[in-house]
Amino acid sequence: MVLFCVLDSPEGEFFDRHAESYHSARGGMSPFHEVTAGRIEEGLHGSVLSVGGLWNSARLSVPDYRLTVLDVSAEMLKRSAREGLELVQGDVRTTDFADGTFDHVVLPLVLHHVAGRNALTARRNVRGILVRVFRMLRPGGRVWISEFCVPRAVYAVEVALAPAVRWGLTLARIPLVVMHTSSFYESALGDAGFGEVCVEHVRPASELSRWIRPVIGLPWLRVPRWLYPVRPTLVTARRPFSSLRSG
Ligand SMILES: C[S@@+](CC[C@H](N)C(=O)[O-])C[C@H]1O[C@@H](n2cnc3c(N)ncnc32)[C@H](O)[C@@H]1O
Repeated sequence: MVLFCVLDSPEGEFFDRHAESYHSARGGMSPFHEVTAGRIEEGLHGSVLSVGGLWNSARLSVPDYRLTVLDVSAEMLKRSAREGLELVQGDVRTTDFADGTFDHVVLPLVLHHVAGRNALTARRNVRGILVRVFRMLRPGGRVWISEFCVPRAVYAVEVALAPAVRWGLTLARIPLVVMHTSSFYESALGDAGFGEVCVEHVRPASELSRWIRPVIGLPWLRVPRWLYPVRPTLVTARRPFSSLRSG
């Protein structure tokens, strides 16, 4: 089943324009994507929601689960299409699923894109989404966050520079992106009510490129990895079977 609708979202409009180039690029992060996809897929069962499209390098071989894919961009959503998947176009900040619908919610490389105007709104948006995800999960259900995390010192610079970066990106019609630390995700998950928080810095099967392209939409911008040391990270957590969170 496919549910498409018209949304007024800068991220949706941006990814509509860049869907083709995003999916045709074989980025230097492929070795990491393959390991992460394997980790995620071996843990899934039952009813699964993937937010921000499917996870990169998804194999979905003999899936033991029913998969719904939510994406704010119609063009990106089309590229997640596989037989048997339910596709829903919507913004994770506003799209409602009934409480306790899913056994697993996967957030693959989406949380750094919900930044809004600055680092403060970026952090607030991630926290709000994790509270929503908590509600969508059944007790005992699991959330999977695949992200590029930065060390604290880099984060401090990123937070301070976010308004200037946003100004520059706006000129190129690119929404702000904020990469967070893994400790931010740990604390946001704890505050949302999750337990069993586990952070894994994913080790790729082969060497990663020494250069990274930090901004989708600016393919000519290459930065040495030592200068912007983003770390592929998989954070998982569980909604406890019994919880005091009420609303
Ligand atoms: C960097 S791409 C990641 C695509 C894919 N999940 C992957 O791992 O390669 C970010 C995705 O998140 C989607 N996205 C961005 N903001 C969103 C939002 N607020 N709600 C739902 N999806 C969003 C974009 O349309 C895009 O498909």
